[in-house]
Amino acid sequence: MTHTNAAGRTRLDQLPQWRALAQHRDKLGDTGLRELFDGDPERAVRHGVEVGDLYLDYSKHLVTEETLRLLRDLAEAVDVAGLRDAMFRGEKINVTEGRAVLHTALRAPRDVVIEVDGEDVVPGVHSVLDRMSAFADAVRAGQWAGHTGLPIRTVVNIGIGGSDLGPAMAYEALRPYAQRDLDVRFVSNVDGADLHEALRDLDPERTLFIVASKTFTTQETLTNARVAKAWLLDCLGAEESAVAKHFVAVSTNTAEVSAFGIDPEHMFEFWDWVGGRYSYDSAIGLSLMIAIGPVRFREMLDGFRLVDEHFRTAPVEHNAPMLMGLLGVWYRGFYDAQTHAVLPYSHYLAKFPAYLQQLDMESNGKSVDRDGEPVRWQTGPVVWGTPGTNGQHAYYQLLHQGTSLVPADLIGFARPIGELGVLAEQHDLLMANLFAQGQALAFGKTADEVRAEGVPAELVRHRCFEGDRPSSTLLASELSPSVLGQLVALYEHKVFVQGAVWNIDSFDQWGVELGKVLAKRVEPTLAAGASTDGLDASTATLVDRYRRLRGR
Ligand code: F6P
Repeated sequence: MTHTNAAGRTRLDQLPQWRALAQHRDKLGDTGLRELFDGDPERAVRHGVEVGDLYLDYSKHLVTEETLRLLRDLAEAVDVAGLRDAMFRGEKINVTEGRAVLHTALRAPRDVVIEVDGEDVVPGVHSVLDRMSAFADAVRAGQWAGHTGLPIRTVVNIGIGGSDLGPAMAYEALRPYAQRDLDVRFVSNVDGADLHEALRDLDPERTLFIVASKTFTTQETLTNARVAKAWLLDCLGAEESAVAKHFVAVSTNTAEVSAFGIDPEHMFEFWDWVGGRYSYDSAIGLSLMIAIGPVRFREMLDGFRLVDEHFRTAPVEHNAPMLMGLLGVWYRGFYDAQTHAVLPYSHYLAKFPAYLQQLDMESNGKSVDRDGEPVRWQTGPVVWGTPGTNGQHAYYQLLHQGTSLVPADLIGFARPIGELGVLAEQHDLLMANLFAQGQALAFGKTADEVRAEGVPAELVRHRCFEGDRPSSTLLASELSPSVLGQLVALYEHKVFVQGAVWNIDSFDQWGVELGKVLAKRVEPTLAAGASTDGLDASTATLVDRYRRLRGR
C-alpha cells in the first residue's frame, strides 16, 4: 500500500524511486571499490566535476552508474530542481516561518531583479554593501576614530551561531588577505571567560565593537554587548555618547538596536529572508570585510555566485552540490551512516567544520516533514571534523578500522599561500597525506598484502584495512576569497538538496527554542533561597548542589 502524507504527497520511502534504490542497495551487497575501479579504467575521470576553481572527485564512493542514475531519478521524482528554482525566485519555501530563502540574492549582480512580495531586493543588498564598504575602508585607513580621537585598531565581533561562525571561520580562512595591523576578535559564548579573554589586553580607545544579531534579542549576544559597553564607558570614563564611535550593529531589528543605544545610522541592515546560518555574506560579514577589504569581500561574493549559477543551471549528473547531496542521501538512507566528516587539509580552514555543523545540522536536523508529518527516514547526519593532518593522529583510527561507516570530504589546495616562504616546502607533505588518506580509506589493505609484509599470523587481522570507506576529494587551486565563496556555496546547496529530498524545511530552527525558554526559567532558581518548585527532580537536585557549591 502506498502512503501519502497530509498534503497528499507520496511519502519518500513509498516512492518507486526510493524502493528501487533499496533494491539496488541489496543487489550491490558488499561490492567494493577495488572491484569498481578494476572494472572501469575510466571511473576516476568520469567521476570528476569541475566547478569554477573547484574539482570534485567522487569516484571513491560506493556507487555504480546505476546507483547514480537511481539517485537522479529520485531527485527528479521529488522535484529538487523545482524547489531550487522556487528558492532562487524568492518564493516562500521556508514554510514554517512563511519566509523566502534568498541568501543567493546577497551575491546577485546589481542589474538582476529578485522580488519578495513584489519588491526588488537587489538594490537594498547593494546599498548595504556600499555602506559597509565605505565604513570598512574608513576603519582600515585609520580614519574612523574612537571617542578620544585615536584610530580603531581592534574590531570585536559580538554574535553567536550564524552571527559568529561564518565571519569567524572566514576571517581565519582568509587571514593571509587580512590587513595584519588590524586585530579582529570574535566573542560568542555567554561564559564571561570568552569576553574576558577578548578584552583583557585591549585598548578601549582603539576598539570597535560590532554587535551582530539578526534578531537583536539573543541572550548571549546582548549580555556580552551590555558588558562590553559598560567596560568601554568605564575604561574611558565617558558618557553614553561615546558608544557612537565604538559600537555598530548588524541586524534586521532597528527598534532593538536603538533600544540598546546604538544609533540606527550605525546599523548595517539585512533581512528576514536571510537565514542566520546563511548570512555571513550579508552585513554579518562586516568584521570580515574590515579585515580583508571590500574588494576581496566582493571577490568572495563572486565565488558564491559562480556556484549559485552552476547549481541553478548544470544538469544533475554534472552538478556538484546535487551530487554531493544525493551521495549523502544514499549513505544516510541505505548504509545507516550516522555521521559525516569534513577534513580540510588546510590550517586556515580550521573553523570550517564548526561552521558546517550549524549550516548542516541546524538546517537538516529535523524529524517532521514540510507537511507536518513525522519522517520515516534518516535526515541530517552529525557533521564533524578538524584539519588534517592533526586528525590522523587522533580519530582516523576509527575511520579506518572502526565499526561505523563515516563518509568523508577531504579538502585540499594545490598552492600554499604566498607569504609562507620556506614553510611552503611542507605543502607537498600535507597534500601527500590528503591523497594517501583517501586512498587508504577506499582501498584498504588485504590480509594477503599484510601477510606478504611478513606480519605474524596472529597480528594479520589487526593490521588489515577493510577499505570501502567512501570519501569525496575537493581540490582547488588555492584558498582565495573567491574559492572560499565557492566552497561555502557548494555546501549551502548540498544541504539544500538533502533537505529537498527528505522533504524537510531546511530553513527553520525550532529545535533551539526549548532550551532558550527553559534557561530563562532556570536562571532565577539559581539565586539564594529561590524556590525550585516546578523544576524536575534531577534539575532541582543539580540546582541545589550548584547553589551549595556557590555558597548560596
Ligand atoms: O538559536 C539559534 C539561532 O537562532 C541561529 O539560527 C542564529 O544563527 C543564532 O541563533 C543567532 O541569532 P541572532 O543572529 O538573531 O542573534
